[in-house]
Amino acid sequence: MAILPIRIYPDPVLRVKCRRVETFDDALRKLAANMVDTMHAAPGVGLAAPQVGIDLRLTVVDISVGEDPAALRVLVNPEIVRREGAETDTEGCLSLPGITDKVDRPLSIALRAQDLTGEPFELEAEGYLARAICHEVDHLDGILFTDHLRGLRKERARRQLKRLAAEQEVAV
Ligand code: NI
Repeated sequence: MAILPIRIYPDPVLRVKCRRVETFDDALRKLAANMVDTMHAAPGVGLAAPQVGIDLRLTVVDISVGEDPAALRVLVNPEIVRREGAETDTEGCLSLPGITDKVDRPLSIALRAQDLTGEPFELEAEGYLARAICHEVDHLDGILFTDHLRGLRKERARRQLKRLAAEQEVAV
């Protein structure tokens, strides 16, 4: 197991539309296990493959942050097939350190995905879990939570992202 470096905005991999996973092999399982370790260590409630530099449709979600093994969800090629209701709550992102804001998300969702052996399954989620899954599935299409902001929130996020990008240039 290993903790992987998390890619920070404006790393271009965060804007890539990721490829479907076609090969369900040991390398995929190892990547998923390392992503779980990385998410728990951060700590965070979700992590998508592009956040560790891999353009594959793979994400891990654990709203218990390692407290409850049954809460871990590994989602390969996830597709949200139903969205219902709306709720506004605060989000952050491991790739956007220091930035949080209120984002509108569905109250409940239904999802189709595959597990690490390629077996398809369906999942229903609501509340915070639904929010976390929507956030992670967005990452697989190069969408960041700040893209959902409007008006003054969007303006503020734009300034914060600019500052973050400048810091990253200095860090490199
Ligand atoms: Ni994120």
